[in-house]
Amino acid sequence: MSQITTKLTGVPRTMLFTLKTRADEQARPCPLFQDPLAVEWQKLLPLDEEMEALYNQLTQISWSTRAYHHDQITSRHIANHPHPVVVELGAGLSTRFHRIGQNVEYWLELDLPEVTNLRRQLDTETPQHQFISTSVMDFDWMNTIPDVAPENILFIAEGLLMYLEENQVTQLVAQMHSRFPGATCVIDVMGNFWKLYKKIMTKLGAPFQWFVKNEEDVAAMGLQVVNTDYFYQLYPERWPLPWRLLWQFLTQFPYFRNAYLIVETRL
Ligand SMILES: C[S@@+](CC[C@H](N)C(=O)[O-])C[C@H]1O[C@@H](n2cnc3c(N)ncnc32)[C@H](O)[C@@H]1O
Repeated sequence: MSQITTKLTGVPRTMLFTLKTRADEQARPCPLFQDPLAVEWQKLLPLDEEMEALYNQLTQISWSTRAYHHDQITSRHIANHPHPVVVELGAGLSTRFHRIGQNVEYWLELDLPEVTNLRRQLDTETPQHQFISTSVMDFDWMNTIPDVAPENILFIAEGLLMYLEENQVTQLVAQMHSRFPGATCVIDVMGNFWKLYKKIMTKLGAPFQWFVKNEEDVAAMGLQVVNTDYFYQLYPERWPLPWRLLWQFLTQFPYFRNAYLIVETRL
C-alpha cells in the first residue's frame, strides 16, 4: 500500500503522534512491547513537518509508556473477568487489540468518523473487533455496547478527556454512570502544570481544555477512584538519567506529581 494522505486536523491529527511513539518503541533497546502493526501503519501515515518538529525523545517515551501502562491495566481486567469487553474511547489508531486483546469477547474502537474511516482502510472489522464511528458526546453509542453485566466492561479513555471541556466530561461521566454502573473506566488526566503547554497545542488546533488539581477533581465528577498512578513516577528506568533525576526531584511536590495522572475508576 502507498502512503495515505489524510486531511486530519485538530485533535484527530494528534493520534498520528501516539501511533508513531508506539511504532518507534520497537527500535529502542529493551522495548516495552512489540507493535509491528503500528510500524506498518506509521509508514503509511508519516507525520507532517509541523508535527515532526514537535516530536522528540520525550514525546516517544511519554506516550509509549502511557500505552504500555494502559496495556497492563487492560490485561489485568481481561484476566480477572470471565466475559471481558473492552471499549476504547477516542481510540485513534490504537493497536492494543492486536497486542493483547485476542482473547477478549468484544473489543470496540470508538472515534470520530474521519479516524474510523482511516482505521477501516487499515484494519479489519469483525464481530469480535468492532469500530464505532461517532463522537463520544453523541450518547447513542452507548446503545451499541454488548449487553453484558457492566462489571465486565473496561472503558479506556487514553489521551481523550483533556481535549474535552470540563462540562462535557461531567455529562459523559453522568451518562456512562447511569448506563453502565459498576463498569471500570481508566482515564488519564492532566494537572495544571500542562496549562503551560496550552499555547503550543492551540497552535496545532488541539487545545487542552480539562485540567485537574489532583484525583479529588476526578472523584468530584462522580467517578469512584480505585487507583491513581502518578505518571512521572512510573517506569523511571525509561527516562535518560537527567530526566529521571529531574522527575524524582520534582514529583516530591504535588503540583508536579499531579502533572499527569492515570486513574482507574469505577462508574
Ligand atoms: C491523542 S489521540 C489518542 C488516540 C489513542 N487513544 C492513543 O492513545 O493512541 C486523541 C483521540 O481522541 C479522538 N477524539 C477527540 N474528540 C473526540 C470525540 N468527541 N469523540 C470521539 N473521539 C474523539 C481523536 O479523534 C483522537 O483519535
